[in-house]
Amino acid sequence: MALVTTTEMFRKAYDGGYAIGAFNVNNMEIVQGITEAASELRAPVILQVSAGARKYAKHVYLTKLVEAAIADCGDLPIALHLDHGADFEVCKSCIDGGFSSVMIDGSSHSFEENIALTRKVVEYAHAHGVVVEGELGQLAGIEDEVKVHAEDASYTNPAQVEEFVEKTGVDSLAIAIGTSHGAYKFKPGQKPQLRFDILEEVSRRLPGFPIVLHGASSVPQDLVKVINEHGGQMPNAIGIPEEMLRQAAKMAVCKINIDSDIRVAMTAAIRKYLDENPSHFDPRQYLSPARAAVKAMVAHKITDVLGCAGKA
Ligand code: G3H
Ligand code: 13P
Ligand code: ZN
Repeated sequence: MALVTTTEMFRKAYDGGYAIGAFNVNNMEIVQGITEAASELRAPVILQVSAGARKYAKHVYLTKLVEAAIADCGDLPIALHLDHGADFEVCKSCIDGGFSSVMIDGSSHSFEENIALTRKVVEYAHAHGVVVEGELGQLAGIEDEVKVHAEDASYTNPAQVEEFVEKTGVDSLAIAIGTSHGAYKFKPGQKPQLRFDILEEVSRRLPGFPIVLHGASSVPQDLVKVINEHGGQMPNAIGIPEEMLRQAAKMAVCKINIDSDIRVAMTAAIRKYLDENPSHFDPRQYLSPARAAVKAMVAHKITDVLGCAGKA
């Protein structure tokens, strides 16, 4: 199967009360770990690429890796998505360069500027058969080396969503309800909370419209423990409780973004392997368990959090 857009995936996910996993990819082992899990579980999947990933691996290597995964996975629906496109040029470059979906992240601009920028990307994307995710509201955390402090983050204002969707023509909308990017989402002792009331109000105003949740890693404590026991230092790394993500997936959230959990899974596997095998120096030896850890993480998300196993 060729690359697909997210249109069909989201329609079925919305109706079925589950979500599609959007996993960030940066190298071959990550692409393989994700797609092997999705393929075995027959789960539609979104592979997403950030500006940082394009800088690290180069656009052409990433698209060729995804092309290889598509060839390897038979008829599994796979979408290739630009994560957090900052401007029209980066979106155009990914649309021209073979992506099936792009995000234009105008959330740091004023409402009017966000609408104008998003509209411009939508016009170009739709003319080329590509779908667009927009964003309203700002998440805290680190993304593309830019740190948004918690006090500068802002929840999505539900009163703006109809006008935004109508004026821009976006295909999906990322909203801010209390998730954040990175592995330090809550302070120790702080009770993790998401604003499900905002999600409910947004979906009431946009019936049937797919909503996206960024910053949705759970930062599994058993893996943080492995990292810290094998020379790492990730004190107080805390993520979103999985139960909250399961609840969001049953509601209007059709796409759940996960990057940090993949990083944590790989780092735990590599640290443990090298600690236990100090004489080994063949990268295949430590990247094999790292790839297996990505696969196990994604399989767990698909089965126990997203609910999209068997939906391909
Ligand atoms: O939203 C941010 C993603 O986790 C991508 O992170 O910009 O370091 O590749 P990155
Ligand atoms: P996490 O840092 O929670 O994995 O979020 C990833 C993300 O939102 C990518 O866009
Ligand atoms: Zn994000």
